Amino acid sequence: MIEILRLGHRINRDTRISSHVALVARALNADKLYYTGQKDSSMEKSVMDVVDRFGGSFNIEYIKNYKDILKNKKIIHLTVYGMPLKDKITEIKSYKDILIIVGGEKVPGEIYNLADVNLSVGNQPHSEVAALGIFLYELSNSKFSEFKDANLRIIPMEKAKKIEKKT
Ligand SMILES: C[S@@+](CC[C@H](N)C(=O)[O-])C[C@H]1O[C@@H](n2cnc3c(N)ncnc32)[C@H](O)[C@@H]1O
Repeated sequence: MIEILRLGHRINRDTRISSHVALVARALNADKLYYTGQKDSSMEKSVMDVVDRFGGSFNIEYIKNYKDILKNKKIIHLTVYGMPLKDKITEIKSYKDILIIVGGEKVPGEIYNLADVNLSVGNQPHSEVAALGIFLYELSNSKFSEFKDANLRIIPMEKAKKIEKKT
């Protein structure tokens, strides 16, 4: 089980980036996104619309307190200050259920202590979307999710858009 926790969502300001965190998670084999901060039904709806059309069972849930979901999981906190991905990825691949924490504007200090691994994806500050995508791609051995129940399937084309609809 791969779950993500996105901290400190702000309506309007973070709607696009948090929905991208969710879509990247879904495309790279994660099962669920939890988020804290402000509950944002329209962000949740935009993610679940993709799930309805393109398949799978990815889910999204607003939680008030992240402490409620930390039990029985290995906690991986993505932070520019952490240990390098290449040094930790083999160990992390042996974990069964993981919770990946990505920050927003300000990450509470206690997150660094409660994490089993503070993990950096390169040592430059960039983005939660990029950090999550690169980490999940490595964790998934370069394999993207496949959804057998999809209503819509994108067919790769050199120079056209082709979408197949389930009959
Ligand atoms: C734009 S950063 C802001 C960080 C915030 N200023 C703080 O208090 O740490 C948002 C999130 O992107 C992720 N992030 C950015 N650069 C990263 C890197 N090089 N490696 C891992 N995660 C990174 C972290 O999860 C971070 O919390």
